[in-house]
Amino acid sequence: MIIKSVIDTMSKRQSVRTYETQKITASHLNEINDYINDEHHLIGPFGKKGRIVMVQVTNNVTDKGIKLGTYGFIKNPSAYLVGITENNQDSLLDFAYTFQKLVLFLTELGIGTCWMGGTFSRNSFEKEIQIGESEFIPCITPIGYPNQKQRIFDKAVRLVVKADNKKPWDKLFYDTSFERALIKENAGLFEIPIEMVRLGPSASNKQPWRLVLSEDRKVCHFYIEHTPNYSAKLGYDMQLLDMGIAMCHFELACQELNISGYWGVEDPNINPLSGNTEYIVSWYLDR
Ligand SMILES: Cc1cc2nc3c(=O)[nH]c(=O)nc-3n(C[C@H](O)[C@H](O)[C@H](O)COP(=O)(O)O)c2cc1C
Repeated sequence: MIIKSVIDTMSKRQSVRTYETQKITASHLNEINDYINDEHHLIGPFGKKGRIVMVQVTNNVTDKGIKLGTYGFIKNPSAYLVGITENNQDSLLDFAYTFQKLVLFLTELGIGTCWMGGTFSRNSFEKEIQIGESEFIPCITPIGYPNQKQRIFDKAVRLVVKADNKKPWDKLFYDTSFERALIKENAGLFEIPIEMVRLGPSASNKQPWRLVLSEDRKVCHFYIEHTPNYSAKLGYDMQLLDMGIAMCHFELACQELNISGYWGVEDPNINPLSGNTEYIVSWYLDR
């Protein structure tokens, strides 16, 4: 048996926008269905539960005959996984945390994904799926086997959003206060979990997460640096999804490294980086 390292998976994952025409195999479809139908996989650290629905497509048309639109961003998807949750902070954080775990599970199976919050027609997906009064679709991902040969379009998207330019440590991570950048070698136990936050996907690759490691190295505070007006017209704060993804990467890396701890919300009242900085959550090392 091969034991996969999730740290390895997080390091290798990339958004995939062009897929092979080959359909996802029946056994992989079963594994995915089992995963998304298991309640434990749908609840995040704040205790909120979302839903994930799989819709298979042929030439982007569903079995019900509905054409699902991605404005040409995605080629040859075998299916879509559609996320559904409520529009409040805890639900969005939890949804993203659980959806990223699913993305990593799929990556380990050799299945490609691409988080999509903007470049798809919500209308067409809402025609396909029953959505409750208080629910909405924050994000979807196409799934399929990655085509090794990226389209020119994929390369262009990666170039435009600078997908391969992940911000360096000194722009994201801080030591004790926002006045001092955190030096990788000084992060102690948390070096790899913090590095995994840095490698996570984020909407338009804005990387809004900012972390402050406490002086005693026992607490890591998570802040969001909002990009002004980023997703205002969508009616929800898409960058909160980036924060849920960061929590997922951080926690899974800790788990693999046997670093035990827990999430809590207690604002340490550290002077913010800017007017757009907001405290979200902290991770406490078990004593
Ligand atoms: C919340 C969220 C929303 C995203 N929305 C879109 C989208 O609408 N269209 C798209 O092509 N990519 C979208 N992406 C993918 C990002 O552009 C991508 O994660 C980023 O450029 C970094 O590249 P990587 O995922 O290959 O590391 C989204 C990612 C996240 C996390």
